[in-house]
Amino acid sequence: MKFSVKPTKTSGKQGACCVIGAYQSKKLKGLAGEIDALTGGALKKWIGSGDFEGKKEQTLVIYDPPGLDSERLLVVGYGKEDETDARRYRSACAAAARKLRSMNLRSATVWMANDVVSDCDATSRAKHLVEAMRDAVYEYDKDSTRKKTSALSVVVAVTGKDNADAARTGVSQGSAVSDGTDLARDLANLPGNICTPTYLARQARSLQKKYPVKSRVLNESDMKKLGMGALLSVSRGSRQPAKLIVMEYPGGAKSQHPIVLVGKGLTFDAGGISLKPAAKMDEMKYDMCGAASVFGAIVAAAELKLPLNIVGIVPSSENLPDGDANKPGDVVTSMSGKTIEVLNTDAEGRLILCDALTYAERFKPEAVIDVATLTGACVVALGNHISGMMSNDQDLADEITAAGNKSLDRIWQLPLGDDYQSQLDSNFADMANIGGPGAGAITAGCFLSRFAESFKWCHLDIAGTAWRGGNGKGATGRVVPLLSQFLIDRAN
Ligand code: BES
Ligand code: MN
Ligand code: ZN
Repeated sequence: MKFSVKPTKTSGKQGACCVIGAYQSKKLKGLAGEIDALTGGALKKWIGSGDFEGKKEQTLVIYDPPGLDSERLLVVGYGKEDETDARRYRSACAAAARKLRSMNLRSATVWMANDVVSDCDATSRAKHLVEAMRDAVYEYDKDSTRKKTSALSVVVAVTGKDNADAARTGVSQGSAVSDGTDLARDLANLPGNICTPTYLARQARSLQKKYPVKSRVLNESDMKKLGMGALLSVSRGSRQPAKLIVMEYPGGAKSQHPIVLVGKGLTFDAGGISLKPAAKMDEMKYDMCGAASVFGAIVAAAELKLPLNIVGIVPSSENLPDGDANKPGDVVTSMSGKTIEVLNTDAEGRLILCDALTYAERFKPEAVIDVATLTGACVVALGNHISGMMSNDQDLADEITAAGNKSLDRIWQLPLGDDYQSQLDSNFADMANIGGPGAGAITAGCFLSRFAESFKWCHLDIAGTAWRGGNGKGATGRVVPLLSQFLIDRAN
């Protein structure tokens, strides 16, 4: 789906389909009113007859609309005007995209970026429009013989020059974020037998061809030299070698300290010797969604040519049972020198992330954000709607919260603190890798915080938000929108 911005009039040429939004109301307001007048009341007629009430996501197609230079008019409901916030607006844009796809159209002129949406300026209306429409039509097509649906070109119609400039900014941001999100979804949806640590490393290298990104891959012997005993202990049970992937996007001045993004890249998590139950174990191919988000955010930043230095670090491994795998009770030494008692081999994410965090120190980061499908406890706490967040710096936490609200890729901050830290006490090492039954998302954050003492750091637990299970099983691409918004706002 491709987007372009065009300043135009409702009386102008609209092509195969003209798309407008309508609030739920007897009176047609704004653009819908203008279009209705052009059609000589055709819209009002259908609304009056009960075919369409403007309820959220409701659609109405009028063929050969009188007075309009278009073959079709697609009307999408927003719901009540005073309730039309960014979330509602996006769901209407998504409904429009699904309808357009079902009609198999090649082109459409969409007017929705002109409508009133609470808390949204013209730029974010255009950005949300692109992201919501592309999100709605995303298809994973790597491993099936299903044929791809045809590409649709969307003209984002705007009135006036100021609106056009704002919409262009929004469309380019939305397109970049969507490209990053699509990449994250594609990588995450790949099966574990294809998407291995080596595969992710190759993907990082191939980013160099398309974008001004420098990639490096550390293999197991490099990691051994660095003393990454925690990361390597996870990979011992796997026949796929672990990789530490480093991607640098040098968009800022040399003197500028980088934002470092660290993503958990567990390409399959069976739990190790602390084996997971069989049900839904296939979903543990998604245990690299943190890594996928880092790839996606770097792509979005590079496409937008953000004037920032960004480093992506992806520790990648499998976690499988094996004669040489980590065993409960084993003690491993991390790169930081701190020792860890592995009480549960299924708490492996923190073991690979802790060495990646220590490695991040060498970049003298402005801030470090790690992203991980870290705990089932976070899913229990927040469900599938909002990601968990913990931080050692409240200003950074507030910035991330704001970026989450603006992008609608939301987070909720959970506390850290000494009371929780003490749950990690061990009789045999500096810390245990689990903190007991209570507050599992928080004790995982506490564990990571011990390796993030020398920089401003924020941890995002995306275990509940990174993919959906059930019939619509698939990766969501979160938290690419959040990370991208954070970077966009930093760049301004
Ligand atoms: N990758 C899982 C977390 C997870 C579980 C994400 C379910 C999404 C859905 C992680 O490696 C893990 O297994 N965590 C354990 C930690 C526990 C042993 C302290 C968990 O959450 O059960
Ligand atoms: Mn696990
Ligand atoms: Zn895991």
